[in-house]
Amino acid sequence: MTANAKADSKDLFQYLALYDENSEDHENFVPFSMGAPGAESLAGCNQLLDKATRILLSDDGEERFTFQYGPCKGYPGFCREMAKFLSSEYGQTVSREDIMVTAGATQGLHLVATVMFNKDTPVFMEDPTYFIAVKILREDFGMNIIPVPTDSEGINAEKLESMLVQHKPTSIAGQKTPFWGMVYTIPTFNNPKGYCMSPERCRTLIRLARKHDVLLFTEDIYNMLHYDDSPVCPPRLMSYDNHMDEDFQGHVLSNCTFSKILAPGLRLGWIEAPPRIMKYLEKSATAWSGGAFNHYTSKVIASALKEGLIAKHLNKLRKEYRERMDIACSSLRKHLPQDVKVDYPKGGFFIWLELPPSVDTMLLLKLAVEKYKINFIFGASTSPTGGCRNCARLSISFCDKKKIEKGIVAFCEALQEMMETSKGQ
Ligand SMILES: Cc1ncc(COP(=O)(O)O)c(C=O)c1O
Repeated sequence: MTANAKADSKDLFQYLALYDENSEDHENFVPFSMGAPGAESLAGCNQLLDKATRILLSDDGEERFTFQYGPCKGYPGFCREMAKFLSSEYGQTVSREDIMVTAGATQGLHLVATVMFNKDTPVFMEDPTYFIAVKILREDFGMNIIPVPTDSEGINAEKLESMLVQHKPTSIAGQKTPFWGMVYTIPTFNNPKGYCMSPERCRTLIRLARKHDVLLFTEDIYNMLHYDDSPVCPPRLMSYDNHMDEDFQGHVLSNCTFSKILAPGLRLGWIEAPPRIMKYLEKSATAWSGGAFNHYTSKVIASALKEGLIAKHLNKLRKEYRERMDIACSSLRKHLPQDVKVDYPKGGFFIWLELPPSVDTMLLLKLAVEKYKINFIFGASTSPTGGCRNCARLSISFCDKKKIEKGIVAFCEALQEMMETSKGQ
């Protein structure tokens, strides 16, 4: 990237922050960049948390535990309720011993990176990926980011294998765990591409992890936001690491959060991991000092899970997000110029657009913000290689239906204008 492009990109990151709920213009602005629940989706949290909190606090016998440090792995009641809830959502038994409380997926990543790996550890990441994870792993932990190309089915397994072979160390001396590297992946309703990794690709990833001794760190953030009529989520990558296999050891960790299915402000999440991995996490000195990460909130949410409040809220969200996704997709089908490639997702928050190669979405974003009062995530910001310059990620999570419809029309108009301008040059 040139110095100018770097400066532009910095300015453009500021555009992403232009959406300010306190600004006068916020009513008219459509923030497709936001991958978080908006006001409509947070509605109901007050009542839910009020009810769950009352249940918890009405038990005087629990007071001395509720406000005490929690056990390193988390309040057992939370792990039990979570396992029940997940078994029902996944359609597969989840064991409570495999659950650990975290303060959200970001903290889950922090925990794994610090407890299981050293600085400079190779991390194989989908390109494009969740751009903040690249920043965390590279800047906070000094890990060695190795981008791997993706297609519409997930990570390119052939390229991954050749990179694993290339980076495999000759000695494992000094490693904290049996894993010399980590594959960071978002297999279900991927951020930013929206795809679900194909079953074939999932099986290959398990085979590669077992063969090359790497940890599959899966971000299972959006799995429960599926918009088909199935009663269960698409199978998570961990479910392919079958306990019954002769060569099973446990190579997959599932990092999850309440941020998208309830409220990011709670800072509550969980990790699901087999004993072979869990033993490193539960021995974290940080957990030993501070106890369960976010103990009090996990106790409130345990009550909410037990009362069926989370399941009810999740059903409301699925319905709401599904309607928004339907509106966004049908509006894109109607208004998108030709030559734009889209795989319409069946869940999650994100629609990924591949525009004609002549369109630089960093420039499109500038036009979109200034003239059309919308924003989005431009492709290059999601790519550790600075690729995807002609791509854009739109999120349906933050805006209500009316805004989505209006915003998609505005996005398509901005794109049309941009394409016409670039043709004339
Ligand atoms: C893939 C991925 N991981 C982690 C997060 C952040 O999760 P949390 O709020 O639980 O830290 C996000 C949110 O956008 C995400 O998309």
